[in-house]
This record gives sequence, structure tokens and C-alpha cells, in this order.
Amino acid sequence: MRLILLGPPGAGKGTQAQRLVEKHGIPQLSTGDMLRMAVKEGTEVGLRAKAVMDAGRLVSDEIVNDIVSERIDADDCAKGFILDGYPRTLAQADALDMMLERKGLALDAVIELKVDDDVLVDRISGRYTCAVCGAGYHETNRKPKVDGVCDNCGSTEFKRRPDDNAETLRTRLQAYYKDTSPLIGYYYAKGKLSVVDGMAEIDDVTRQIEDVLVERI
Ligand code: AP5
Repeated sequence: MRLILLGPPGAGKGTQAQRLVEKHGIPQLSTGDMLRMAVKEGTEVGLRAKAVMDAGRLVSDEIVNDIVSERIDADDCAKGFILDGYPRTLAQADALDMMLERKGLALDAVIELKVDDDVLVDRISGRYTCAVCGAGYHETNRKPKVDGVCDNCGSTEFKRRPDDNAETLRTRLQAYYKDTSPLIGYYYAKGKLSVVDGMAEIDDVTRQIEDVLVERI
């Protein structure tokens, strides 16, 4: 199963990708996570990406295309993968088409998570993750079962992303509407697009996605 989750910052791509990983046993390929890891490790890519990410702008197509091309060659992608946050420009979508064609692979579905802008602000400003295992939470929508303790690994350390603030979110939304939203038409024209109501509760969004997968795969 090869799947793209498409949607603005805070739409729930990462949340739903984690659930798909658990259910279907295929990896989540989040270019945001891969870039944040590169920043943390201080690699050359990380050094080039940090300021751009902190400002909420898009990292260059060349960098992310290289990262994804290398990642989908890994053994754990043999049965499929969930692309979360990639592609994000028409040039990246073209590059992905070429990568898949070269490997004799095809996309099964592109799922757009549709969410109103005012809800995105609340989701982004309330978001935090476990500092140890990366499990995602939200101050009101997705709290740990025991206050201050990660459900997944028991850690009591949490962190927030440096780009999760109102000003940077404005830039990220602008980048989404300018560069990424044209992908909706691109994949619709290819007959790959399914739209899901991302305003619904997390479990309900998961159900809608599973319905799409039954239909498409
Ligand atoms: P990236 O890490 O991809 O961030 P993003 O696209 O802005 O998306 P987010 O991770 O912020 O949101 P999400 O949709 O995953 O929402 P989540 O599930 O966490 O990219 C970061 C940066 O890296 C970019 O700005 C760019 O600089 C660079 N970059 C990355 N990829 C790139 C590329 N391909 N090209 C160029 N540059 C690239 O949910 C948010 C919150 O809401 C959570 O707290 C969650 O619990 C809650 N929530 C989720 N679903 C629901 C629901 N249904 N109801 C209520 N609450 C919900």
C-alpha cells in the first residue's frame, strides 16, 4: 500500500499516519520528521534546512526529493509506505512520479484531510510530543491517560516544535495554499484523490481513511 496524506499544517497527517503504521505495519515517511532529525544531528542537510523550517518556509525540492528517494529504497518500504508532508510542490509530485516509475511502483491513494484554518491554529498551538518516543498529544484534544506521563513509553518529558507559533503558522499556511494546494487538482486529475473530513474526531477520521483504503486497494 502506497499512500499520500495531504493537508495543511495541523490537519492531522502525523496523527493518522501513526495509526496507519500500527494497523498496516508499513512505515510513515514524514519529511518534516526526517528534516528535524537532520537538524538535531547537525548534518549538512540539517544545517541548510534549520532556518528555513523555523521561518515556516519550504525546504528546497532538491533536498527533500533526495531524502525521499533514498528512504523508499529501504527494506522496510518493500510492502509500502505512508507519505506524510511529501510531496508539497508540483515539482516534488513530478519527482515522486519519476521515482516510483523507475522502481515499477504505483500510488494507491492520495487522501486530503480537509480542515478549516481557525481550527488549525488551535491544533498547532496546543500540540506537544513526548521528548523520548515522539508520541503526539494535544492540550485538550489528545491528552495522555495519566496527566504528564506518556501513554507510549512512560516518559514525563515533553517538548514543542519551534515552528509551532502563530506567526510561523501564518507563513506555513501561505506556503500550503500557494505551493501545496495545487496538488489537490494534480491528483484529482490522475483519479487518485479522496477527500476526508479532517474536522471530525480523531477516531472518526481514522474510520473515513480506512473506508477509502477498502475502496481503493
Ligand atoms: P511538517 O513536519 O510536515 O509539518 P506540517 O505539514 O506543517 O504538518 P504538521 O506536522 O504541523 O501537522 P499534521 O498535519 O501532521 O498534524 P498533527 O497530526 O500533528 O513540516 C515542517 C516543516 O518542514 C515545513 O514547514 C517545511 O519547512 C519542512 N518540510 C517538511 N516537508 C517538506 C517538503 N516536502 N518540502 C519542503 N519542506 C518541507 O495534528 C496537530 C495537532 O492536532 C495534534 O496535537 C493532534 O493531536 C491534533 N489533532 C489531529 N487530528 C485531530 C482531530 N481530528 N481532531 C482534534 N485534534 C486533532
